[in-house]
Amino acid sequence: MKRLAWLTDIHLNFLRHAGLKAFFASLPEADAFAITGDIGEAHDVAGHLRAFADRAPVYFVLGNHDFYRGSIAGVRAEIRESCREVANLHWMPDAGVVPFTETTCLVGHDGWGDGRLGDYHRSDVMLNDFKLIEEFGGFWESKDERLAKLHALGDEAAAHFRAFLPDALSRFRHVIVLTHVPPFREACWHEGKVSDDNWLPFFSCKAVGDALVEAAAAAPDRQMSVLCGHTHGSGEAQILPNLRVLTGGAVYGKPRVQRVLEVE
Ligand SMILES: [Fe+2]
Ligand SMILES: [Fe+2]
Repeated sequence: MKRLAWLTDIHLNFLRHAGLKAFFASLPEADAFAITGDIGEAHDVAGHLRAFADRAPVYFVLGNHDFYRGSIAGVRAEIRESCREVANLHWMPDAGVVPFTETTCLVGHDGWGDGRLGDYHRSDVMLNDFKLIEEFGGFWESKDERLAKLHALGDEAAAHFRAFLPDALSRFRHVIVLTHVPPFREACWHEGKVSDDNWLPFFSCKAVGDALVEAAAAAPDRQMSVLCGHTHGSGEAQILPNLRVLTGGAVYGKPRVQRVLEVE
């Protein structure tokens, strides 16, 4: 039995020095941390991850906020560098299948609100993502151009899961999936309800959901548990008998541990 402390959407850029010190001092004893994105912003995410790594191995994905005031390519490059330098840091898109216990492994990818669920074309949501992440073109970008980018980011994550889940499920009874964006409508908890069609395009990653369902359906004797965040509303969704999704709750400026999972 090992203890995996799961955190999501901790947005540590909202804390000052004393708050950060108190937060890191409050972390529970664990064999490892699983962090499902929105850790900070482009300038500070790597530093915060290194602080976790001083305590225990860290298995993480990045969320949309982790690229704010920077670029996806730039942050990913910096994170890769940190992972090369710090043995305890593991960015899941590069880590593949990570054995955690004899029967449980971890697989993960950042994911992205891919615009496929809900009603993208009628939605009036304008996320800060499109202004604060260099790869997007701000207000001036057409909706179609933006949607192509959302699709590509979702598809990249789905391709990762298609590449690694069959092997993970053949070797382990239980696969813990780490991803930032909820992969199913039913998992898009926001203020106690499932998000509406206005928000769903940005709150869900359908491409990943499709890949997870395919993998779970092909391995009915295996169990998959998905940990995600992004919507800041906590909830659970049972998608298939062997596919369960936990979405983490979050409040800006009040980072916390979602739960400590006892993993067999
Ligand atoms: Fe968040
Ligand atoms: Fe997010």
